[in-house]
Amino acid sequence: MNAQNVRKSLLEWYDRNARRLPWRAPPGDPPPDPYRVWLSEIMLQQTTVAAVKPRFADFLARWPDVEALAAAEDADVMAAWAGLGYYARARNLVACARVVASEHGGKFPSTERELRNLPGIGDYTAAAIAAIAFGEATAPVDANVERVVARLDAIAEPLPAARKAIREVAADIYPDDRAGDFAQAMMDLGSTICTTRNPACAICPLRPECAAAATGDPATYPVRPAKKAKPHKYGTAWWIEHDGAVLLVRRPDKGMLGGMRALPSGDWTRKRQAEKAPADAEFMPLGTVAHSFTHFDFSLDVQGARLLTRAALDGEWWPIDDLDAAGLPTLFAKAVTLARAQFEAQGDIQ
Ligand code: ADE
Ligand code: SF4
Repeated sequence: MNAQNVRKSLLEWYDRNARRLPWRAPPGDPPPDPYRVWLSEIMLQQTTVAAVKPRFADFLARWPDVEALAAAEDADVMAAWAGLGYYARARNLVACARVVASEHGGKFPSTERELRNLPGIGDYTAAAIAAIAFGEATAPVDANVERVVARLDAIAEPLPAARKAIREVAADIYPDDRAGDFAQAMMDLGSTICTTRNPACAICPLRPECAAAATGDPATYPVRPAKKAKPHKYGTAWWIEHDGAVLLVRRPDKGMLGGMRALPSGDWTRKRQAEKAPADAEFMPLGTVAHSFTHFDFSLDVQGARLLTRAALDGEWWPIDDLDAAGLPTLFAKAVTLARAQFEAQGDIQ
């Protein structure tokens, strides 16, 4: 693999094939607004381009610059993030906006090193923002770039140990100029041509330089470690209804779905266990919803009751017809859908 050939071929390919994305400048143009670059990079951590696009537009319309976002209510940002998952990102987003507004005069710092000190910005994101928004010659390595680089050099060492070698090769390939274009070209190549399962080597601009393509079985790179089974966890959530409203709580900031609105629920445990309900009522089992988190699969048993009087309970009574606006994370949105369907099917339950 010749690094110079890779740079030239990939940038020429990008000039013709760059995806037009709302947070991007066209190839060769001056960099876009750092706020847009930062917001898109945070949203794109762990979330697909297709899912991010409409949310990016919503966020920009509502909070058009970092100062507007710094002044937002935490709860509004958490609710606007609902469904995107990995909610620590949303908490860090507001924290970061506030640091930029109060300590940097509303301007993002322009170097990888300074960006790395901001909340929610790790090695990859700092390098990506520095390259894309400021043209610094950094080498951001996300999962797409990792795959392309591991293939170019047919790195046989399994992940995660291979990451050190991948970083070194990446640093060698990345150019001194057009750093932002090159980073995004690697991402585009990785997500459209050099895909995980079926790399389209026949139309790839890097084919002549690619050691994995030469082996005839490029999809074996990067080499995956043996996979461990995901653990399973269980929990119970309560649908507590009174007079057209349902009780919602805000989850503790620390822990899964921290800071998000939710139905009241008990501990999440490795064994299914009976939990004490938060209200004194006859609860009916309404069914179970399944949801897969990164580190475990989850079954949430849903129990429901209608109260005759509005008991003094911690939380907020939320109009059932307005639940779409509550910003529930996907797990609890599924539980709500189940509970509503069951209640409608069963009629009145006291
Ligand atoms: N994934 C992470 N950052 C990206 C970007 N700037 N363009 C496309 N996909 C990305
Ligand atoms: Fe990926 Fe194939 Fe291109 Fe190599 S030739 S970078 S394996 S698509």
